Amino acid sequence: MCGIVGYIGHRDAYPIIIKGLQRLEYRGYDSAGIALYDGNGINLTKTKGKVEDLRNLSEKGMSLSGTLGIGHTRWATHGVPNDVNSHPHYSNSGDLVIIHNGIIENYESIKKELTKRGYTFESDTDTEVLVNLIEEVKKKENVKLGKAVQIALNQVVGAYAIAVFDRQKPDEIVVAKLGSPLAIGVGENEFFIASDATPFIEFTNKSVYLEDEEMAIVRLGKEIKLRKIKDDAIAYPMIQELQLNLEEIEKGGYEHFMLKEIYEQPRAIKDTFRGRLLVEQGLVKMAGVDQNLEKFLNANRIIIVACGTSWHAGLVAEYIFEDLARIPVEVEYASEFRYRNPVIGEKDVLIAISQSGETADTLAAIKLAKERGAFVFGVCNVVGSSIARETDAGAYTHAGPEIGVASTKAFTTQITILTLLALKLAKQKGVFSETRFHEFLSEMENIPAKVEKALESNPLVEIIADVYKNSNNCLYLGRGYNFPVALEGALKLKEISYIHAEGYPAAEMKHGPIALIDEQMPVIVIATNKGHYEKVVSNIQEIKSRKGKIIAVVTEGDEQVKELADHVIEVPETLEPLTPLLTTIPLQLLSYHIAVMRGCDVDQPRNLAKSVTVE
Ligand code: AGP
Repeated sequence: MCGIVGYIGHRDAYPIIIKGLQRLEYRGYDSAGIALYDGNGINLTKTKGKVEDLRNLSEKGMSLSGTLGIGHTRWATHGVPNDVNSHPHYSNSGDLVIIHNGIIENYESIKKELTKRGYTFESDTDTEVLVNLIEEVKKKENVKLGKAVQIALNQVVGAYAIAVFDRQKPDEIVVAKLGSPLAIGVGENEFFIASDATPFIEFTNKSVYLEDEEMAIVRLGKEIKLRKIKDDAIAYPMIQELQLNLEEIEKGGYEHFMLKEIYEQPRAIKDTFRGRLLVEQGLVKMAGVDQNLEKFLNANRIIIVACGTSWHAGLVAEYIFEDLARIPVEVEYASEFRYRNPVIGEKDVLIAISQSGETADTLAAIKLAKERGAFVFGVCNVVGSSIARETDAGAYTHAGPEIGVASTKAFTTQITILTLLALKLAKQKGVFSETRFHEFLSEMENIPAKVEKALESNPLVEIIADVYKNSNNCLYLGRGYNFPVALEGALKLKEISYIHAEGYPAAEMKHGPIALIDEQMPVIVIATNKGHYEKVVSNIQEIKSRKGKIIAVVTEGDEQVKELADHVIEVPETLEPLTPLLTTIPLQLLSYHIAVMRGCDVDQPRNLAKSVTVE
């Protein structure tokens, strides 16, 4: 996710854009830039770092005049965060300048074609390719910027929210949207463009939200011209009068970042497999893996190191890799691995999982593994983070910034990456039939919609939360693929509601935990209809006979558990290895609502930091 801001009107554009970018930093903050048209030409400054760094640089080094401009705060997906890869990007002629939030999946093939036609590129970004494609179309077809944008966008595959202007025609900004948000603020003889309304809500509450595959030419003194990108059909702008305040908009209207991020998971999972899950071609494409395939295929074993929620994602991966790809996997707490003098060598692959990419223990574990010759692969959410730079190769989750301390969308996007990796290796090793491989790819593509469906349980979960919000202890049980989900559910509850909670393999009940069961003990049991269902049902009966309160997460349509449990939360059916992506959703919501009802600081729980960069 990145933040984009644009302005055209009667005011100085600079202060509006800089302040607007600061309000959008929650969307991404690894680099920032601004381009202003001062009546003669374009003045552009961009830098790695935060918007404050951009402000300092701009105010020292460039003319800040002009009533037309665009600005960008980046969350890198292609190209590490540095000055060159920051937005805005010029076209080769210097006439066009663009900002972009999204991912152009086929940018490499377009870049090759443009290079053949003499275009050169300074950055590694997909965005610089897009602005030069627009320039090439504009020249070749001899059309205006709006038409050139439309033709160019019909050649790209991916997601975008873009704003682009031409210094030869500085009375308009062209914008377009597919998959990333874009709002136009409508003022008195002025227009604002932004990823959401926070940059312009103090100037106007009139807003037009573009729909997917819509574009607009925003010209001073004119009505907004809306077009469908595909067929040029005219669309009519629906001007909304926003009633939200700043903070509400930043949180997307949700009360907390955590809830917003729970609800972002369908989009985050889709963005994470975008360009990697190619169902039609029957392919899983992962550059970091394709270039190092032999390392994985010839590995003695895979060792996964991580902390907290990322460790739970690693545990899910252990089940997936061993079950599907038949590769031995060990999962280790990074803090233990780094100090126990582990046996690891050149024939091993170490996978480090980290949302922040800055967790000290995980970073130390990576360094140890590299010293001993292992190949290290990273799964991170922050491009250019320390862990991402330290690993030999990797794959980024595209969850966007995770602001809530309690990790949610990072967990499901990490599992998405690791599942794709396991499927790829299973296919390469020939332990997976074409049919089974295709079955998994197709089901993977259905997951975002099934997560949406799982989120519909929210009102029921809120009711359940109210019943158990004053519990002092809680037990989470799961078997197989859902044992790690039980651990994750317990971690969510304890870290934001401060209720003591433990996760256990359901079968472990008899080895001690069952002594805890009484009518004061709520037990959350994951009982999907895949994998040892009958055994979980008998665990539920054992709990019931001891008067434990049972909250069961079941596959939709389940009738058997419904007879036994005190509460039942349904999730859609899916393939067993993919159930964690769905069963974790109600557990995230349960911990969230209980924490809110207990008056806890959900986004910044006591004693916790978002990234543990010290031992
Ligand atoms: C999870 O909700 C916690 N915030 C914490 O356990 C976190 O997962 C852990 O610190 C690892 O962080 P990382 O993924 O950024 O390395």
